[in-house]
Amino acid sequence: MKKWLKKSLKVLGVLLGLIVIIAVVGWMYFKATFLDFEDDYVEQTSFNEITVNGKTYLDRNANGKLDIYEDPANPIEARVADLLSQMTIEEKIHLLKGSGISSALGRDDVYSAIPGAVGTIVPTPRLGLPTIYLSDGPAGLRIAAEREGEDRTYYCTAFPIATLLASTWNTDLVYTVGDAMGTEALEYGVDVILGPGTNLHRHPFCGRNFEYYSEDPFLTGHIGAAMVNGIESNGVGTSVKHFVVNNQETNRNFNDAIVSQRALREIYLKGFEIIVKESQPWTIMSSYNLVNGTYVAESEELLTDVLRSEWGFEGLVMSDWFGGNDAVAMVSAGNDLLEPGTNKQWKALTKGYEEGTLSEATIDIAAGRILKLILNSKKMSNYNYSDNPDLKAHAQITRNAAAEGMVLLKNDSVLPLNTSSRVALLGITSYDFIAGGTGSGDVNEAYTVSLEEGLKNAGFPINADARLLFESHKAKNLEAFKKLEGLDAMLTPYNAPEIQYSKTQLEEIAANSDVAIITIGRNSGEGGDRVVEDDFELSSLEQEMIANTKEIFGALGKKVVVVLNIGGVIETASWKALPDAILLAWQGGQEGGNATADILVGKLNPSGKLPMTFPIGVTDHASHNNFPLEGKPIDLMSFITNSGVKDKADQIKNEDYTLYDEGVYVGYRHFDKAKLEVSYPFGYGLSYTAFEYSEPEMMLDANELSVSFTVTNVGDVAGKEVVQLYISKEDPGVDRPIQELKAFEKTAQLEPGTSATINLKVSIQEFAYWDEALSDWVVEKGNYTINIGGSSRSIHIYDTVSI
Ligand code: BGC
Repeated sequence: MKKWLKKSLKVLGVLLGLIVIIAVVGWMYFKATFLDFEDDYVEQTSFNEITVNGKTYLDRNANGKLDIYEDPANPIEARVADLLSQMTIEEKIHLLKGSGISSALGRDDVYSAIPGAVGTIVPTPRLGLPTIYLSDGPAGLRIAAEREGEDRTYYCTAFPIATLLASTWNTDLVYTVGDAMGTEALEYGVDVILGPGTNLHRHPFCGRNFEYYSEDPFLTGHIGAAMVNGIESNGVGTSVKHFVVNNQETNRNFNDAIVSQRALREIYLKGFEIIVKESQPWTIMSSYNLVNGTYVAESEELLTDVLRSEWGFEGLVMSDWFGGNDAVAMVSAGNDLLEPGTNKQWKALTKGYEEGTLSEATIDIAAGRILKLILNSKKMSNYNYSDNPDLKAHAQITRNAAAEGMVLLKNDSVLPLNTSSRVALLGITSYDFIAGGTGSGDVNEAYTVSLEEGLKNAGFPINADARLLFESHKAKNLEAFKKLEGLDAMLTPYNAPEIQYSKTQLEEIAANSDVAIITIGRNSGEGGDRVVEDDFELSSLEQEMIANTKEIFGALGKKVVVVLNIGGVIETASWKALPDAILLAWQGGQEGGNATADILVGKLNPSGKLPMTFPIGVTDHASHNNFPLEGKPIDLMSFITNSGVKDKADQIKNEDYTLYDEGVYVGYRHFDKAKLEVSYPFGYGLSYTAFEYSEPEMMLDANELSVSFTVTNVGDVAGKEVVQLYISKEDPGVDRPIQELKAFEKTAQLEPGTSATINLKVSIQEFAYWDEALSDWVVEKGNYTINIGGSSRSIHIYDTVSI
């Protein structure tokens, strides 16, 4: 063999050997740090019973007597104190971090009795404390649908996305959805749902806006509180996330949000404040990002001073997954639980204790909060979960909720449709309806009803030629229509290519149908933000499809309806004149197709209203110059290894830091102030009927404003109205928004000619703005106009009050 060849082979061999060694060492490190480090803490599941005064208890620590913590009749504080007094310091520190990401990665082992649950609170076997399971997320419980070696499935209900739920403006309905979600968690043995997501829609491009409610903190807060109360009525917890100012996905783990105290208080914290005060959630999840230079997960100011001392939060704070940087700083700041937990964090906490940077008193506070949750859990009362939630009943709940949150944007006397109309379904999404977004907000549901199926179920004849075109298009693009699996599915939104219809094809379709329904679909999710091209704006194919369909159907006197199956705001101003009707169906969960058909056929009257503004152009948003526009995907390595914040000199605007220069001028607060025309305003939505408002009666006392009036259905069909109350300071002494939502109510279903009496209450505190100099809320004296109407730009009645 030639000398050089021999040498090269030798080098190659050494290199290969090195790669193998690095891979083996890397895997061992990964396993020891992220997966398997809990061997000494295996959950104890069988206990002896003891009987005291005729009552039977579990002897969890096997000491033959009844301990204070073992008796559920004792006050929770006493039980926690008893446990703390019995625990070793190692056991307490052990409790402060989860057991790793085994189950999130689908590894079915001793740490993950519930595959797909993304995290745990670890067990304390010596004292018989159970494992607590944490699982996503905002649109329904996310656990694995299949388990190794089992024939049966563990599907959950895909409920509508959060944005749709906010569009219902119906807190009772959201409570019912939460109750159903909570029941699924309870019956599948999950103790805490990682949701709801309550970040603000600061800019339409945030990839996770679908998981969040609104551009308005008041609506966010009240819808969020209803969701928490609904879920927690089952004895399972929630984790309200992501606290706080987590409004972009780009570089989310290391992005520093530079935001004024006033915007923080009035906009970004406000929704969380309402939720804490109205629903006292079991847990709150701190966000990845930094706020004004400090990781939220390490911010004592936010996690202790604001959340606990000011608002009275009594639950625990957990980190977002691998969030925060310094484990000791996190626990000291009030971030009690580190999720999903790593061996590295465990060691860092132990070292902190040994070196005196983490005191036992601080450890006790955090461990005490975690113990309280464990004691309150259904696991602790040995609830025998069925693994069989009533998915059929929940399908009906999700269908009703989805229909109620759909927003009718335009209707030129075309809807509701007559079921004898022959429908031509255009656009791939009509056949491949999108139930929800991707990432941790996704759900493993058994099925998704497409619009085609929904319309068929409602009795519509569906045009066969249009369907054939879809089929042949799909056959030609099979790869692109493949739905991804596992981690890929989590991080890559599914967006299959659109069909190009020729005019001849459309003419043939139009000849054999009465109405065209075009569905425009969008999908986004965790790990990436949206972009302008082919996302916010329609693609050229979509524009052409709408224009040609209108031309061809219109020439025959046939109508065109556009259905928007989207998770976030898109551009509508340039094309909305073309179709005869536009229904914003959002992403309605697994029954989306049936729910859309319920609205299209008029079985249900649309009553959703926009929880955000649809602008003319995205650049109209005040936050636009300070938002990442590249749609950069998540860097998984820096996420898992927590690579940290860059040096100041290397920091890139909108990635490493984001200036919240618009202050409080988010959404309609900005559009109103700048007197900008919008495509559809905040609070907007049409109905198949019309409502009239009576003159309001207003009463003001020292604590609150009471407003009453009646709303009458003056149309021909039954329907519900969303009544919105905005307050507006006349001649304000400080710069403030023109008007702000401060009360809302959805009426019950009103039959034609009937009225509802509306009684709205606004606490005087709601009139306040945040004074940065005083660092406090201030209610300015003077006159306030109270605007009441069916949208932020459709004020039917108003009056003035003086404070
Ligand atoms: C998300 C959280 C989620 C967690 C667990 C994180 O990446 O930001 O919202 O709850 O993962 O899946």
